[in-house]
Amino acid sequence: MQTIKIPKTDLTPSLLCLGGVPLGSVLDERRSFALLDAFVAQGGTFLDTARVYADWLPGERSTSEKTIGRWLKQRRQRNRLVIATKGAHPELTAMHRPRLDRASIVADLDQSLRNLQTDVIDLYWLHRDDPLTPVAVILDTLQDQLRAGKIRAYGCSNWRAERIAAAQACAQSQGWPGFVADQMLWSLAAVAQETLPDPTMVAMQGALFDLHAASGLPALPYAAQANGYFQRAAEGTLDGMNAASRLLYDTPENRRRSQAVQALAAETGRSISAIVLGYLLGQPFPVLPIVGCRTVTQVEDSCSATDAPLHAAEIARIEGRAGDGTPVPAETFPVQ
Ligand SMILES: NC(=O)c1ccc[n+]([C@@H]2O[C@H](COP(=O)([O-])OP(=O)(O)OC[C@H]3O[C@@H](n4cnc5c(N)ncnc54)[C@H](OP(=O)(O)O)[C@@H]3O)[C@@H](O)[C@H]2O)c1
Repeated sequence: MQTIKIPKTDLTPSLLCLGGVPLGSVLDERRSFALLDAFVAQGGTFLDTARVYADWLPGERSTSEKTIGRWLKQRRQRNRLVIATKGAHPELTAMHRPRLDRASIVADLDQSLRNLQTDVIDLYWLHRDDPLTPVAVILDTLQDQLRAGKIRAYGCSNWRAERIAAAQACAQSQGWPGFVADQMLWSLAAVAQETLPDPTMVAMQGALFDLHAASGLPALPYAAQANGYFQRAAEGTLDGMNAASRLLYDTPENRRRSQAVQALAAETGRSISAIVLGYLLGQPFPVLPIVGCRTVTQVEDSCSATDAPLHAAEIARIEGRAGDGTPVPAETFPVQ
C-alpha cells in the first residue's frame, strides 16, 4: 500500500488507517489479532483508536487500546507502526460536558500510554472540542506534551472550521506546529450535519471543506466507507445493515449516488470499494481514510482499493454536479 508523509511531522503512514473500534469488543482477542495481522500483511502501518473505545459496552474500559497494546508487544510491531489515539472525549454519560481542560487531557494521554504499552503516541487527537475554552489554552497543554516527548504530533477531531482556523493562527503566531491533521465524518455518502446521531460529531462540508482545500491540512475521515452502505446497496443486502447506519445513509440522495457508483463500476471495472475510497483519495488535498473493517476479507478488499483516486469529473458526476459545479440534468446522468 502507498505511504504518505504527513506535513510538519516525521510520520509516513500507510494511506489507509485501520479503525480500532471493534478491537477487543465485538471482536475477541484472537479475531482482533487476526485483523491487525491482515492489515499489516497488506502493507498497513497506521492504526486509529481512542481511550473511550469501546466504553459504551459493559465490562472492561479502553478495550481497543489495550488490545492494540498487547498485539504491538506480542508481534514486536511498535516501531513499524504509526499509532494514533484520542483523548478529551466527554464522559459518555455527560456528553454535554466538554473535557478540554489541562487535567483531563493529561490524564487521558497518560492512560492511553499505559493502555498501549508505549512511551509515545505518534499522533494524538483531541476527540472533541469545547468552543468556550480558548484555543491558546488547549494548544499550550498539547505543546507541553510534545516537549515532554509523550506525543510526536497532534490533531483535532470533530472541530468546526472557525475553531481550527483560530487554532492554526494561534499556533503560527507562537511558532508551534499546530494541528497536523483533522478527523471528521466523511464519505461518498451525503450526510447532513443535523441528521448525525451525536451532535458533537462534525461532518465534512462547506467551510470545513474550504479550509482543507485552501490550507492543504490532511483529512482523516471516519465512517469513510459509509459503514458499507454502497457495497450493501449494490449486493441488495441493505436489510442486514445496522439500523442506525441505515437510517443515516439510506436517503433518496444516497440511493441516487449508489446508482451512479454502480454505473461507474460497470463502466470502469472498478470495485464498489475502490470507488467509495477513490472518491476520498481524489479530493484536492491529502486524505487518509480510516476504515472500520470487521473481517479479514473486508481488510483485504479495502486495502486493495486504494490505487484508483477518482478524477474531479467522476466526483462531480457522483455528486450530481457538472464539472463546473452546476447540477447535472437527470437525463445526462447514466443510472442502471
Ligand atoms: N473521531 C471520531 O469521532 C470517530 C467516530 C467514529 C469512528 N471513528 C474511527 O473511524 C473508524 C472507522 O469508522 P467506521 O467503522 O464507521 O468506518 P466504516 O469503514 O465506514 O464502517 C465500517 C463498516 O463498514 C463495513 N465494511 C468495512 N469494510 C468493508 C468492505 N471492504 N466491503 C464492504 N463493507 C465493508 C462493515 O460493515 P458490517 O459490519 O455491516 O459488515 C464495517 O463494520 C473507527 O474504528 C474509529 O477508529 C472516529
